[in-house]
Amino acid sequence: MKFFVDTAEIDAIAELNDLGMVDGVTTNPSLIMKSGRDILEVTREICDLVDGPVSAEVVATEAADMIAEGRKLAAIAENIAVKVPLTWDGLKTCKVLSDEGRMVNVTLCFSANQALLAAKAGATFISPFIGRLDDINLDGMELIEDIRTIYDNYGFDTQILAASIRTVNHVTESARIGADVITAPPNVIKALANHPLTDKGLEAFMADWAKTGQKIL
Ligand code: G3P
Repeated sequence: MKFFVDTAEIDAIAELNDLGMVDGVTTNPSLIMKSGRDILEVTREICDLVDGPVSAEVVATEAADMIAEGRKLAAIAENIAVKVPLTWDGLKTCKVLSDEGRMVNVTLCFSANQALLAAKAGATFISPFIGRLDDINLDGMELIEDIRTIYDNYGFDTQILAASIRTVNHVTESARIGADVITAPPNVIKALANHPLTDKGLEAFMADWAKTGQKIL
């Protein structure tokens, strides 16, 4: 499973990238706002840092303008995936840009039917939002499972990019179901390393080691 990091914070991306944990990056208008950076500038910096796909989202809502914005974003670097919302105009944009050979990430997906449409429009990635479904008492994981089944039934090669990941359990479940990619904030990716028994075990080893009076270096 590929790990994308869901942020526009350069330092956080660089730290995880140095560890080989970053297969790509996703951004959105809210993340650009949080970074306080200019979208074109920060996206270029991210593309220089990371080899894999970097999603940059259009903000127009009508197809002609979305296509123009998508082309401008795609011109930043080879590894840009143009991100478009799952609206009818977004699907039109997806079809045009994917026919031009550009990677497209269709975002704000909340149903299996929407995912089916995105695959038919040639999406490279579909981004179902797990956390936001959980927020309204629906089951985000059930959606990932449904999309996996449907894509496998018909051999669609659109990659399932599990998004709006808020917890380490979302990562485990996405991997168990067979999502192709997860995108998660840096703190969630780092939290995957945590286990209380690791901390407890290390504490006991350190206490015993101190009693030996030895040093390795
Ligand atoms: O990748 C989409 C993500 O940024 C949305 O996450 O936590 O705002 O629902 P969230």
